[in-house]
Amino acid sequence: MVVAKPRLEISGGRRLHGELRVSGAKNSALVLMAACLLTTDNLRLRNVPPLTDITAMGEILAALGVGVVRSGDAIDLDGGHITQAAPPYELVNSLRASFFCIGPLLARMGMAQVPLPGGCQIGSRPVVEHVKGLKALGAQVTIEHGVVTAVVPGRDHRLTGGHIHLDCPSVGATETLMMAAALADGETTIENAAQEPEVVDLANLLIAMGARIRGAGTPTITIDGVRTLHGADYAVIPDRIEAGTFLLAAAITRSTLRVAPVIPEHLGAVLTKLEDAGCRLTPDGEGVILSTERIRALDLTTQPFPGFPTDLQAPFMSLLATAEGTSFIVENIFENRLQHVAELQRMGASIRMNGNTACVEGVARLSGAPVHGTDLRASAAMVLAGLAADGVTTVRGLEYLDRGYADLEGKLNAVGASIRRLSDDA
Ligand code: UD1
Repeated sequence: MVVAKPRLEISGGRRLHGELRVSGAKNSALVLMAACLLTTDNLRLRNVPPLTDITAMGEILAALGVGVVRSGDAIDLDGGHITQAAPPYELVNSLRASFFCIGPLLARMGMAQVPLPGGCQIGSRPVVEHVKGLKALGAQVTIEHGVVTAVVPGRDHRLTGGHIHLDCPSVGATETLMMAAALADGETTIENAAQEPEVVDLANLLIAMGARIRGAGTPTITIDGVRTLHGADYAVIPDRIEAGTFLLAAAITRSTLRVAPVIPEHLGAVLTKLEDAGCRLTPDGEGVILSTERIRALDLTTQPFPGFPTDLQAPFMSLLATAEGTSFIVENIFENRLQHVAELQRMGASIRMNGNTACVEGVARLSGAPVHGTDLRASAAMVLAGLAADGVTTVRGLEYLDRGYADLEGKLNAVGASIRRLSDDA
């Protein structure tokens, strides 16, 4: 059978100019969508990005009985008639974020059966903390044949508030437990909680739905459970990772670009590193203007928020591959997230690896080459490198890129890039 394999063909070396618009945050939208399972009312989310992951999450919710209607960047989710507490394996397997369903399903239905999400290209990605937390809220959890079954014993099948200390500040565990605790009987505290902006976005949505939550964005979150939640109309925050990628597009092409909307506090560590690298950043209310002629080497280490985000490590490495001097990049969050190094080397980057550290010696010019995006953010790193490289870069592995970037080539072409999406026969 002939399979069409799309690829991007980038003619590099062009300066960019103008404005790049940032879509709604993928990682927020995915978890906010799962929150529709907590109420029988309609939940309207706005500023939802048009991504394949969002479509996949919509299909999983629809399989549970949720009415899903998309119109433009809005999505209406009607959880009034949930018929299932067990999303089908085939759908869940294609999207790790579908595991988010377990918290709200358990809180609303008293039971949930969700296939264990697999590892992925960047690491093993366990859900130990999610399970530990659900148990602390009174659920009985068993894992058999690759399926997590959680049941709330007792007459009213209602979770009970509890004290949870996470061993690591897992974003997914914090979000799962916040949703579960929102409908629990009594008070829950989550200590060592993740502080990412997407956690705060979920808390704000849940509060808009009637939940009682304090402390989101700090290491201790307190949730006073309520009996029921109601519908809401809520706009997703801008995608800080897409915004960071766009700022890096300006930096790697030594251009001046406006990127908006940007919430600077969501990108604190990234903006600081861009300034350290020699970029001028001018916030102008809704957005940020970046301009630069030269890039200096620097060191960076990925950390939980408010540290430097792992999701921008690969894109930032592309920039540092073109810097003056030698940079050290340490990946602390995921054990297998340096696969883009080999691809950047194909483009003439000078990088040595030692465990989770990459030593990047900047080169004067990258050279276009056929490369493969090995995961979502690695694909973005390849596109950035292609923008700066001499000649033509061909990026394959777009199934990853399309999960997290809405019309990346269309947006970049509108500011002066030359990128074509082509299909050929595998
Ligand atoms: C989320 C983001 C992802 C981002 C990551 C870290 C979504 C949909 N995805 O993923 O883009 O890269 O946060 O910012 O929001 N861990 C454990 N035990 C657990 C859970 C996690 O050891 O039970 C470890 C992981 O292996 C990893 C670290 O904690 O080393 C961070 O993982 P986590 O914050 O859970 O990431 P996700 O929520 O999966």
